[in-house]
Amino acid sequence: MTPRTSPEVGGMGHSMRRKEDPRFIRGKGTYVDDVELPGMLWLDIVRSPYAHAKIVRIDTAKALATPGVLAVITGKDLEKYNLHWMPTLMSDTQMVLPVDKVMYQAQEVAAVLATSRYAAADGAAAVSVDYDPLPVVVDPKKALAPGAPVLRTDKKDKKDNHIWHWEWGDRNATDRAFDGAEVTVKQDIYIPRIHVSSIETCGCVAYFDKVNDKLTVWMTTQAPHAIRTVFALVAGHVGLEEHKIRIISPDIGGGFGGKVPVYPGYVIAVAASVLTGKPVKWIEDRMENLQADSFARDYHITAELAAKKDGTLTALRIKTLADHGYTDAAANPSKFPAGLFHVCTGSYDLKAAHVEVDGVYTNKPPGGIAYRCSFRVTEAVHTIERMVDLMAHQLGQDPAELRMKNFVKPEQFPYKSALGWEYDSGNYGGALQKAMEQIGYAQLRREQVEKRQRGQLMGIGISSFTEIVGAGPSKHFDILGLKMFDSCEIRVHPTGKAIARFGTKSQGQGHETTYAQILAEELGIPAKDIQIEEGDTDTAPYGLGTYASRSTPVAGAAAAVAAGKVRDKARKLAAHMLEVAEEDLVWEPGKFSVKGAPSKSKTIQECAFAAYTNHPQGMEAGLEAVSYYDPPNLTYPFGSYICVVDIDTGTGEVKIRRFVAIDDCGNIINPMIVEGQVHGGLTMGLAPALYEEISYDENGNIQGGSFIDYLVPTAVETPKWEVGNTVTPSPHHPLGAKGVGESATVGAPAAIANAVVDALWHLGVRHVDIPITPAKVWKLLRDKGVTE
Ligand code: CDP
Repeated sequence: MTPRTSPEVGGMGHSMRRKEDPRFIRGKGTYVDDVELPGMLWLDIVRSPYAHAKIVRIDTAKALATPGVLAVITGKDLEKYNLHWMPTLMSDTQMVLPVDKVMYQAQEVAAVLATSRYAAADGAAAVSVDYDPLPVVVDPKKALAPGAPVLRTDKKDKKDNHIWHWEWGDRNATDRAFDGAEVTVKQDIYIPRIHVSSIETCGCVAYFDKVNDKLTVWMTTQAPHAIRTVFALVAGHVGLEEHKIRIISPDIGGGFGGKVPVYPGYVIAVAASVLTGKPVKWIEDRMENLQADSFARDYHITAELAAKKDGTLTALRIKTLADHGYTDAAANPSKFPAGLFHVCTGSYDLKAAHVEVDGVYTNKPPGGIAYRCSFRVTEAVHTIERMVDLMAHQLGQDPAELRMKNFVKPEQFPYKSALGWEYDSGNYGGALQKAMEQIGYAQLRREQVEKRQRGQLMGIGISSFTEIVGAGPSKHFDILGLKMFDSCEIRVHPTGKAIARFGTKSQGQGHETTYAQILAEELGIPAKDIQIEEGDTDTAPYGLGTYASRSTPVAGAAAAVAAGKVRDKARKLAAHMLEVAEEDLVWEPGKFSVKGAPSKSKTIQECAFAAYTNHPQGMEAGLEAVSYYDPPNLTYPFGSYICVVDIDTGTGEVKIRRFVAIDDCGNIINPMIVEGQVHGGLTMGLAPALYEEISYDENGNIQGGSFIDYLVPTAVETPKWEVGNTVTPSPHHPLGAKGVGESATVGAPAAIANAVVDALWHLGVRHVDIPITPAKVWKLLRDKGVTE
């Protein structure tokens, strides 16, 4: 797209350098842990070594005798105020601190308040807890088996560990399609529990100012307004009403969905501050973050795909067990307990589909958060992309050809999927074609044949994913009843500079730059003259926050709409100054000129000055506007990724030789930022594909609870990503833009898994669950007699 504005103005399409980076690269960002207040106290948390146990006794005497320790807070203390349990975003309940029993290893058991961080840690170490272990359930299948111990004994009348059943699609039509199918494939796919592992852990500084009767919480949250409302709903009865609460999300070092939920530490810190009237800081350490914060995925999927012999796909059927840990604390839109998993027909024109999901309780921390993914879309994409590949191999067809044959075609948009989504726009064949040309697909297939003859293992994997982002239209999308709109408020100052505030909150995505670029595009005010603010509930307009790549589709659209309102008023001011009718003015970014007399013009800056100095009688002074944008639909970014792997037959190690990623996020605001989003996203897709997994032994002990075992890829493991794009604008978004932040994380794992299976198919391997570790592959090679 050729930019409409000059580089000095810096509207859409300019690779403008990020406005926020000077403070970040100089170490001058303000993260929660940088907040220091006079008289501040520290909180540390005692955690359970057991996954399921009765609490017999908590002995606090030694802790209270530790120098600097002021108090030990237990569930019983919170129970007095009815604050020992709190609601989750999915209307389940979770413990703040337990009174009777713990439900997972590393669960909060008590909190120690002290005058220094070290004293708090010493105090926590001195708390002695007697436990009476209970039977542990970590496998969701066993959790549903008759006779399994019922975990949620707090829920009256709960007789099992089943949370909910949810299904979508036409069961009968799908069953009929399978009954009459010429070819079917069926596969169990496990998508393991993983953790976002953002650079900054979670934490807060809570300060209840008793004089002004106001609670301020600096907090690592992706959704400050929603959190304020939740706090008010939970603690309004003890005086914390919404107008007395201010949530500030300062700079955030990565969120990826993990900073959407409310964690017990936040609540305990607030309670401690309210009780003492002192600021209280709680910051998780790395292991607490990795072991106790909400997890993603953990889906046990059985998928079936039906087709004709010629490769025409006809139907998809999926059954899934969703392991939510001990509570359903997912951050899904309320109507969709399995998130947007039912976008699982992907990029393919399937006529029938049916999907069922059952949520299950186990003795694990809460799961189900998004992890750089629009609510279970990664699980959906992984499933359909694996299944399509399986079908191609089964039929002996090239996986690229089978995809091309079955893609929803450009002329079919807007396209209604078998599961009811209305895809806005797409050109899936165009993206795959471009990826194939860029990587040299035909040549690679020839090379693969030659290598196979020499006993070498090389595989080529494709993932042609469709995303679904921008939650969402208020008729379908809410969280705890809060509709998922988002907002922008613009004020243009007399000198033509501006400030704009949003209901979203960047965690590294570069909103201070890209939002300014959107406004520069719409108003012609240079992006450098526009200050962007997010994250302070006392100043920003109400919004639902940043996750699931919703900022550009929703708040970005709000920016365009609010800018349009500012422009409309500026037009009136220009007409007044130029003494012409509004209809006689022509707009180009930054300037109104008179039709047929272009030398007679007024800049947006002149209009801004007039708004405060020379506005016509009867018009309100000032130049500002606000928009609460309710998107008419979601946006459907897409892409085609091709991955080439070589497998070491001695060690089973998978080496990614090439990875080409073609993304389409509609019109691009900042190409450099989009490229950065795709690079980071690809590495976060590589992570679960080859390295990351949190598992538990049968006693519920976490395996991989530190970075010694939980392998977050670094630059060393990361291959050279070869990225490119196509541009298919969204027809309903005011800027034609779609989201992009999560696309690469969603799309990449299937390309890698497909490449590995492609390398091993001739040996009889049909599927490998991620993470595809050397040990897993080596075992397969040994079983197939390739290695000893
Ligand atoms: O909600 P989140 O910011 O995580 O995701 P996003 O809306 O996909 O945006 C991620 C970053 O990419 C933001 O800085 C966007 O403004 C930028 N972006 C862009 O420049 N052009 C697009 N079409 C989409 C996103």
